[in-house]
Amino acid sequence: MNWVGLGMLASSLPVALAACQPSETPSDTETEKVDSSPREDGFAAVGTVAELDEAGVISDKSFFAGAVAVIRDPADETAAIAVNSMCTHQGCSVVWNGETKLFACPCHGSKFNPDGSVTEGPAGEPLGRFDVKIEEDLVLVKAQ
Ligand code: FES
Repeated sequence: MNWVGLGMLASSLPVALAACQPSETPSDTETEKVDSSPREDGFAAVGTVAELDEAGVISDKSFFAGAVAVIRDPADETAAIAVNSMCTHQGCSVVWNGETKLFACPCHGSKFNPDGSVTEGPAGEPLGRFDVKIEEDLVLVKAQ
């Protein structure tokens, strides 16, 4: 290889290296996990408002106070509702359906309103509720 060939190789190397780089860094595509440790007022973050609005629900089975699901309040889209996502029939995890605006249990078919009240059994008791609030860009839930 002569000097001209070496120069061409050297000038094309940055282009070749750039082509091998991923187009997005992990921080562009992954959601940053919020600090979910309880604060002095008893509230703990379960996610961001952006996550809630994008997915329609924030579910956290490992929330310190119990399994929780947070949705926007269908009666007031500026507010949120947080329920204990453990079905009161036999403990399966309920799933939020944004189209029907109901929590549904995949195990035996119970359905619950956004406020946790039962619309269809076999569950006879409503889902538990948590206090929830939105503070800046965080969704915060408090143990009862
Ligand atoms: S556990 Fe939910 S309906 Fe049975």
